[in-house]
This record gives sequence, C-alpha cells and structure tokens, in this order.
Amino acid sequence: MRNGIDRRTFLKGAGLLGAAAALPMGLVEIVWGKAPDQKFTFAYISDAHLTHIKGTEFVQNFDKGLRKAVFEVNFLDPQPDFVVFGGDLAQLGKKEEIDHGREIMKELTTPVKWVMGEHDYYLDLGEYWRKNFGPDHYSFDHKGVHFVVLNSILTDDYWTHEKWPTAEERMHQMARLDNPHGSPFMVKDAQRAWLKNDLAKISKDTPLVVLSHSPLYKVFKPWNFWTDDAEKVQALLKPFRQVTVFHGHVHQVLYNQIGHISFNAFMSTAWPWPYPVSYSQKPNKIPDITVFMNRADPFKERDGTGWGHIDIAGRNGFAHHYGLWENTPRTVEKDARMAHPSDTKYQDPKDRIPPQTRY
Ligand SMILES: [Fe+2]
Ligand SMILES: [Fe+2]
Repeated sequence: MRNGIDRRTFLKGAGLLGAAAALPMGLVEIVWGKAPDQKFTFAYISDAHLTHIKGTEFVQNFDKGLRKAVFEVNFLDPQPDFVVFGGDLAQLGKKEEIDHGREIMKELTTPVKWVMGEHDYYLDLGEYWRKNFGPDHYSFDHKGVHFVVLNSILTDDYWTHEKWPTAEERMHQMARLDNPHGSPFMVKDAQRAWLKNDLAKISKDTPLVVLSHSPLYKVFKPWNFWTDDAEKVQALLKPFRQVTVFHGHVHQVLYNQIGHISFNAFMSTAWPWPYPVSYSQKPNKIPDITVFMNRADPFKERDGTGWGHIDIAGRNGFAHHYGLWENTPRTVEKDARMAHPSDTKYQDPKDRIPPQTRY
C-alpha cells in the first residue's frame, strides 16, 4: 500500500457538489501496490429502505435519500468506475419496493454491483431480487483487485423455513431491530465452500475487497450487528496480504481492524441507528478503534446521514472523511504515534455540537 489520498480529486468532487456537500453516499479510493496508474474509485450507496404505502405511494423521506445519492454520484468528477449498492433497497422485500428502487437506481450513469440485505431477502428468500439484479454471491476482478460479494444475512434453516406461518410474518420479524425472536445472520457452509474455491484461484498477493451487508465480525447480537460464522469467513480471508471489507446494515460510522483485515461501514440513505451502548446495557463488542459519530439529536434522523470518503491506502493505513449532513464534518485517521485512530477535531470540545438537554 502506498500513500493514496488524492485530496485534490476528492475536493474537486466535493466542490462540485456545492451546498449539498453532505450526501448519503460514500466514495472509496483505491490505490494499491504495483500499478499506480490503476488507481480507481467506486461509490457506495446503502440501506435505502424504500417503503411502500399503497398504490404508487412510498415514504417520501426514504425516496429522497436514495434519489439524492444517485444524483450526487452522477455529478462526481471523475466518475467512479462503478457503484456498490450495499443492501436493504426495500423495507419489507415487496416487489413494489424492489421495482421502485430499480427505477431510481437506473438513473445512475455507472454500472452497479448489488449486495443483498435482509430486508430484500426474507419475504421471498431473494427470488425477486435475483431476477432483477442477479446472484446474491459472486466475484469479479477490477484493475488488479479481486472483489467478492457475499450474502451474509442467511440464518438457520428452521427459522427460515419452518418457524413462521407466513412469509410476511417472517419478513416482519427480521425487519425489527431489537427482536428476541430474531436469528443471527450467517454466511453458512455452502457459501463459505464457494468462497474457499473462489479464493483458491487467485494469488495471495492480490488485493482483496469483500462486500457484505452485515459486518463480517461481531458487534451486538440482539440487533444483528453480527455475523455468526464471521471467524470462519475471516479465516478464509486471512492468508491474503491486503483485505478490506465494506458493509452496510449498521447505518452508522463504524470500523474495525482484526489482524490485517480492515472493516468499514457506510451510512444509510434513510436513517442512522444509535450505537448499541447508548441504548442497551447488554454486552456488546463495539470495536475500540471506532470513534463514534457525534450525534446531537437522536430524533433528527438526517443529522446522522451524510457522505464519506474512505481512503483505504492512506498515510498511516486508512483515512475516513465524513461529511455529516447536519453535523460537524470529521476526519478519522490512524495516529501513528498513538497506534490507533483518532479524531482530534471532534475531541476538541469547542468543535462539538452540544447534545440536546431536553426532548
Ligand atoms: Fe438497513
Ligand atoms: Fe440490514
């Protein structure tokens, strides 16, 4: 990895966006290894949760989030090579929602790589999704980087096939955040066998980017910020020299480093989730290295949406630049002296937005 941030390019893109500089999408810049001329970017849009009401009516706020992201990606200069959609296009997996999302995403001028979320899956077990967007796990190569897309939101056969009287009931259960009747997400044996086989074909020096919906590590089980067989997936990725995982699902700024595998979450175009520690006393494994995003008002959903630029080959390993829509823009970088990421600007009390004191 070499120093890869191209600040000028990033600012040029951001500048073009003018007053709307806080956007519900992310941009990843990859500058890896031996071929500097092969530097490229891809954009990432996630968790649109388009919600059908009736007829042609949808929840407008969520429509707006996705439309805004699509619009802003189309204005990026230079254009990203492709866009990743990180899952949860629909809210309840309905055909109307998937059709609506497909129509909005059609406006993009760059190709889309699709990752499936649980909200897209648990009504018909992905049938309509696959018909529209193709398989739920696949791999592709781009400018010397091997990309793997996984469906990380599978669960036990009993829960999926036998427990619920109707498909709608199953979908409603999985759509809840804090649900004692839920079931942990998994990649499962068959897909891990496919992954092992896929990775056997490439050299260990090939940079690897893995795209999943849920984090491929364990954060908080009651909310399914969790992939139950994460360690087994990590074991398959471990032999590769450079591994970066990008995911959606958690709707918040979150990152982790396990060995040399880094994990990066993107925000949602619909709403932010709170951090589990602020809402629950139950044990959780929020990574020590995550610097929480500063939210002033938990009832103002747009203060936790925005756009980010992740340079995964930054000066000290990586740099996350977050432009939160209604909050202080932040940069979190690994601090070489402290050996962990820090966000000095946020830590400065004068730069913080004070939390609200009443509701
Ligand atoms: Fe989501
Ligand atoms: Fe999700």
